[in-house]
Amino acid sequence: ATINFTDFEGQTRTVDATVGDSVMETAVRNGVTGIVGECGGSLSCATCHVFVAPEDFESLDPMGEMEDEMLYGTAVDREENSRLSCQIKMCEGQTLNVATPETQV
Ligand code: FES
Repeated sequence: ATINFTDFEGQTRTVDATVGDSVMETAVRNGVTGIVGECGGSLSCATCHVFVAPEDFESLDPMGEMEDEMLYGTAVDREENSRLSCQIKMCEGQTLNVATPETQV
């Protein structure tokens, strides 16, 4: 699986992702700028906020209620295509395009 991370300045970095890992874990392991993941994926920090490309957004599993609530506490305001990247697990053959916010804190 592959993830293209685009930072707030428009720089894109392509990273190989292990199937079953979350987008947040993949970002942290590869030192991707713009994702912190402070709580380690337990839905309590909202520092893993990303904007999913509209063409990819629909293909994701719908977000849970907790994630939806946490998205009101992000450093950069949520948009229609906001998700918490610790809740997105990579699937076989999947390519995901996400943009990272300017700050997570
Ligand atoms: Fe904390 Fe996603 S890593 S909510």
